[in-house]
Amino acid sequence: MAHMFDDLAHLDDILDATRKIARDYVRGGDDAPVTCRDISAFDLERPLPNTGTGTMSALQRIKDDIVPLLACSIGPRYLGFVTGGTTPAALAGDWLASAIDQNATGPEGSVTSSVEQQVINWICDMARLPRHIFDGTLTTGATASNLLGIVTGRQWCGEQIGIDVDDNGAVALPSFAVFAATPHASMVKDLSVAGVGRNNVIKIATLPGTEATDIADLARKLSQSDAKAKLVIASAGTVNATDFDDLVAIADLCAAHGAWLHVDVDAAFGMFAALDDRRVHLIAGLERADSITSDGHKWLNVPYDCGIFLTRHIGILEKCFRAFAPYLDTGTAGNHYINRGVENSRRFRALPLWLAIEAYGRDGFAGIIRRNCDQACDLANWVAQHPKLDLLRTPQLNVVMFCAKGNDAANRALLNRINATQKLFLTPTVYEGRFGFRAAFSNWRTGANDLAIVVSTLEALLSDQDDA
Ligand SMILES: Cc1ncc(COP(=O)(O)O)c(C=O)c1O
Repeated sequence: MAHMFDDLAHLDDILDATRKIARDYVRGGDDAPVTCRDISAFDLERPLPNTGTGTMSALQRIKDDIVPLLACSIGPRYLGFVTGGTTPAALAGDWLASAIDQNATGPEGSVTSSVEQQVINWICDMARLPRHIFDGTLTTGATASNLLGIVTGRQWCGEQIGIDVDDNGAVALPSFAVFAATPHASMVKDLSVAGVGRNNVIKIATLPGTEATDIADLARKLSQSDAKAKLVIASAGTVNATDFDDLVAIADLCAAHGAWLHVDVDAAFGMFAALDDRRVHLIAGLERADSITSDGHKWLNVPYDCGIFLTRHIGILEKCFRAFAPYLDTGTAGNHYINRGVENSRRFRALPLWLAIEAYGRDGFAGIIRRNCDQACDLANWVAQHPKLDLLRTPQLNVVMFCAKGNDAANRALLNRINATQKLFLTPTVYEGRFGFRAAFSNWRTGANDLAIVVSTLEALLSDQDDA
């Protein structure tokens, strides 16, 4: 305890030292290595500290032992997975969320619940979804949001035929069919968690040369299915090709077959295509979804973790995820987020989003999205014209998939060499049977100079290959 009270007495010193570490890290983000070559320098076997060293000394250890081994994923050339950085406003909001340390379960005596509601309203506005028809919750990520979609959708499907899955379990609804063309890996995981089964999906064909749902195949399979309860998973921007399903056609089919439509705003960021006037047509029909998954910690560039779940059936979500006990029943009016997701206790994760949206507005986020899409186009154009590279697919949004001419093994080795430069970070993918590199532009800091570094680094490696 002694250290804690000493620390409280020296809080200014601790916060100043913390601020300096954070400042140096964030300021250095443009040039810091985007991969860490060797994390084995971290001493995993250190014994448990008995008395502790106090925070100033522990902070120094973070500086010495941890910071040098980080991959600077907030940097502008970390193009792996779909990784947003952290805007200054979001960082400030996140710090304050920790300092405030509210348990954001509901409206009891604190404004956290109203702030979250406002964030959900603003997200609806950004995605051009009607507020108050859609409502929702912030989650730990798109994986959690997809789980909410499956569970809520299954409950609704059951209720249409008089079966209460929430009360009686999945076993009460044996006739439940899930249809999907390109479900994200997290969705497959969630199908297992929800007791549906990873393989228990009716696979829909994709349109030739794309990852988008073949509407005719979906129509056929919905008609052929004798399941009494049906859930269709659609994508708004698949994680590889960033293909968008024809959501209007899928919504029509769902209406005709009494199916729930869950849109995994695949890559969990496609929803914000709504902010780019040149791409808003891609999400036509999104407003007809029953439930929608998205993420804040990707394209909205707020720190981990922040997922988004929206639904037009908030009452069903609240039924499935209600946590009732007399000691929790305060009877306070307002949104009880404890009843809207897996966690009971929850971080005040609305605050970083609130601060970032307040600080930068719709235009600020639209700017990130437009720039990142343009950067993906520019890289794709460069790849397409390069004699040693193949573009695997023209990007629809912000992801470029490409590879060097040659076999998969050579490309795997090249990917390792690309990432070993520590100047850019790409992740692997397989597209139409070919191994490729995936560059996902989702960082607010990425600029023209970064694209130049990406191109020159790739060029140098390709010339080295010739020399070898
Ligand atoms: C479509 C889609 N769904 C879900 C996820 C999982 O998101 P999270 O890591 O936030 O759980 C991702 C991540 O890339 C995604 O692209």
